Amino acid sequence: MRPSAPGSLAWQRLQELADAGVGRDLPALFNSDRERESRYTRSAAGLRFDFSRQRITDDVLNELTALAEVIELPKRIAEMWRGDRINTTEDRAVLHVALRQDAGDAIGGAAIEAEVLAERERLLKFADSVREGAAFDHVINIGIGGSDLGPKFVVSALASGVRRSTPKIHFVSNVDGCSLVALLERVDPRRTLFIVCSKTFTTQETMSNATLARDWLVSKLGESAVAQHFVAVSVNEPAMDRFGIAPDRRFKMWDWVGGRFSVWSSVGLAVAVALGSKGFRRLLSGARELDRHFVEAAAPSNLPFLMGALGVWNIHFQKLASLAVFPYSESLALLPSFLQQLEMESNGKSVTREGDSLGWPTAPVIWGGGGNDGQHSYYQALHQGTVSAALGFVIAKESTCGKPTLQQLANANAAAQIEAFAMGNASDDPQRRHAGSRPCSVLLMNAVTPETIGALIALYEHKVFVQSLIWGVNAFDQFGVELGKRLWAGFASGELQPISTRLLSKAFD
Ligand code: F6P
Repeated sequence: MRPSAPGSLAWQRLQELADAGVGRDLPALFNSDRERESRYTRSAAGLRFDFSRQRITDDVLNELTALAEVIELPKRIAEMWRGDRINTTEDRAVLHVALRQDAGDAIGGAAIEAEVLAERERLLKFADSVREGAAFDHVINIGIGGSDLGPKFVVSALASGVRRSTPKIHFVSNVDGCSLVALLERVDPRRTLFIVCSKTFTTQETMSNATLARDWLVSKLGESAVAQHFVAVSVNEPAMDRFGIAPDRRFKMWDWVGGRFSVWSSVGLAVAVALGSKGFRRLLSGARELDRHFVEAAAPSNLPFLMGALGVWNIHFQKLASLAVFPYSESLALLPSFLQQLEMESNGKSVTREGDSLGWPTAPVIWGGGGNDGQHSYYQALHQGTVSAALGFVIAKESTCGKPTLQQLANANAAAQIEAFAMGNASDDPQRRHAGSRPCSVLLMNAVTPETIGALIALYEHKVFVQSLIWGVNAFDQFGVELGKRLWAGFASGELQPISTRLLSKAFD
């Protein structure tokens, strides 16, 4: 049985430090240590992680980094890279890192490397043909969860770098069909390519939207058009057969890739069309650089480890039940919703890998949105309310739309908010008093590029892995989503009867 962090001496000491209120007075900590910001900042792969406004001291940091030994982090990382079946509950390897490997890296072994590289070349060749060719004006990605959120975040983050002539990329996920219907009203069937993106090819939302799109296309161009206007990404060959996806229009997924970790695979086809093969390779290289850092850096300077351990400090020892993520670049606006799946579907667990009940909190509620918008909406509650939240600011120095002065304005706003959250003010008027000492991290990048976006996503993926090791949970399964799906299927087939049929009735009376 693996050693779990909560039973360790380091954990006990962290509890003692927390009980003693260590690190809770940020203004005092900053006033007594002019070097605090530089001492608690680390960099890697074009990202700078400033955690000086976390409620920590050197003692807290030492005990947090001691957890890396408790969980035997290097050994765990080696198991993942080797392709060991660390997804114990599904008896699968976890090899999303293999998807961004370079020739010779042999992550997961030579056979996996060869398969990944061959499929990547096939995917990128096809993506470039769509991007360079004149056949399509619109590419519609039909998928949900990991088959939607990752590619959608990356395409929107890097949209400003996308050439005008590139087909327009759209994402459809909701089963109510409205976004698809609205799209179909304005695209020409002869010039539209559909990507059915579904690891299982059984997800009802995706299959329902894909069928709606297929029926629309067939009604316009006939059955034979399906082979030209549909491609699919899945592990499920028989289902792709049934749907009518042409063999040369199928792109591989593997069971050792979790949906929420899959943007590097063929699930990233829409990204590859938007960025081209060169841009997609840059995305992979940014993630690879962060991977190398994760493998090589010692815990005290290891960004994913520090981000993970500080997250545990906040939810467990500071009792902060949520993490709010605030990007200050519009191009990163979809980051919070991407992280909601990555973090909450991974570590939203209450039993250990072995199935024992946990006695400690795990994944926080991840929420957030554009920082500037938040300032004029829910920041009031974060400044003066009783909301329990740790804060994560994500800032890009350069503008992604050629407006440097306005980006400086946005970042100056972020700086002011970070100061207010950390330092507060000691106003005599209680209505205008800010308690301050709101723990926040600041993640900085010079520019939003394929490399920094690759590194950013890899950082959060490894943070999630680190936290799962500290909490003793399996980050790579998601059995909790199955009950709702089974009940839906049972209600739909009539095999199951819900407590009340009111919700299923055609009209609510
Ligand atoms: O229901 C949750 C989930 O299984 C996610 O883990 C996954 O990313 C999403 O649904 C979509 O699954 P698929 O790619 O198989 O359609």
